[in-house]
Amino acid sequence: MTINTIAVADALTDVTNRLAAAGCENARLDARLLLAHTAGLTLADQTRAPEQPLTAEARQKLQTAAAERARRVPLAQIVGEKEFWSLPIAVSPDVLIPRPESEILVENILRRLGSRRQDELRVLDFGTGSGCLLLALLSELPAAKGVGVDLSQSALAVARTNAARLQLDNRAAFAVGDWHLAEPGRFDVIVANPPYVRSGDIAGLEPELRHEPPQALDGGTDGLDAYRRLLPRLAKRLGEGGVAGVEIGADQATPAARLATDVGLPTPELCHDLAGLPRCLIWVRQTGPQHEKTLGNGGPNE
Ligand SMILES: C[S@@+](CC[C@H](N)C(=O)[O-])C[C@H]1O[C@@H](n2cnc3c(N)ncnc32)[C@H](O)[C@@H]1O
Repeated sequence: MTINTIAVADALTDVTNRLAAAGCENARLDARLLLAHTAGLTLADQTRAPEQPLTAEARQKLQTAAAERARRVPLAQIVGEKEFWSLPIAVSPDVLIPRPESEILVENILRRLGSRRQDELRVLDFGTGSGCLLLALLSELPAAKGVGVDLSQSALAVARTNAARLQLDNRAAFAVGDWHLAEPGRFDVIVANPPYVRSGDIAGLEPELRHEPPQALDGGTDGLDAYRRLLPRLAKRLGEGGVAGVEIGADQATPAARLATDVGLPTPELCHDLAGLPRCLIWVRQTGPQHEKTLGNGGPNE
């Protein structure tokens, strides 16, 4: 080995120490994932041959990636991807990085659909970001078509890339809108993971969140601004027999459910995440004439 080379094990120790000093919680795992990304060495390769030398080029790439991570750039942004619902979802600084907790929403929507999963369902995703919720649902609903709405054109570009990469672009469309979809009609499935962090709490969050788009996080003074605007639209767009779900912050179940009841949605079911925290509200709109009043015509102005 020449003086410019370094063994995998030593490079990992070096990067781990650097990331730990920068306050990264899972420094060792992050170091290993950065090495996998920059040098093309799987975690198994790294374990099997810790003494193998890194090329100068791989070492340089690793140092660059480690410097970014030490600035607390999220790992997913450095590697450009995050797994969600076992799907590889491309990410950029223009979109929220999909969170594992959001899989709870997908899981509960699918459970409520039951035997209707093979039907030609219409799916609407408000605040689609990377498109992860819509694409996860379409991956499980073979005859469904869906549309993802977002205020951010650059987020929609990422969502479109994801739909194409996952070969779901023949069933997924995307549209810009302020919690609003110009296309008329009602939907069988509506999901939303709106921004719900209280504005005053944002500065105290982990440094990684500073690298994600503020409009994906900031829910206003009480964290509920987006629900106030979104839930009336959701109520109008949810068809008879439809299933809807929104992600919520851990202390938002009661106020968000009240906002929904105020706009004619039925009492929701509260679902918890694996940590036991309230994570989403689910509504199933029954069929029947008594619901016509709240449904309106689902047109573009609603
Ligand atoms: C918490 S992120 C969720 C992204 C994605 N659905 C997910 O679960 O990872 C919220 C998304 O809502 C979008 N958004 C914020 N304000 C909006 C508005 N007024 N109308 C539509 N989308 C909005 C943001 O751009 C962001 O992509």
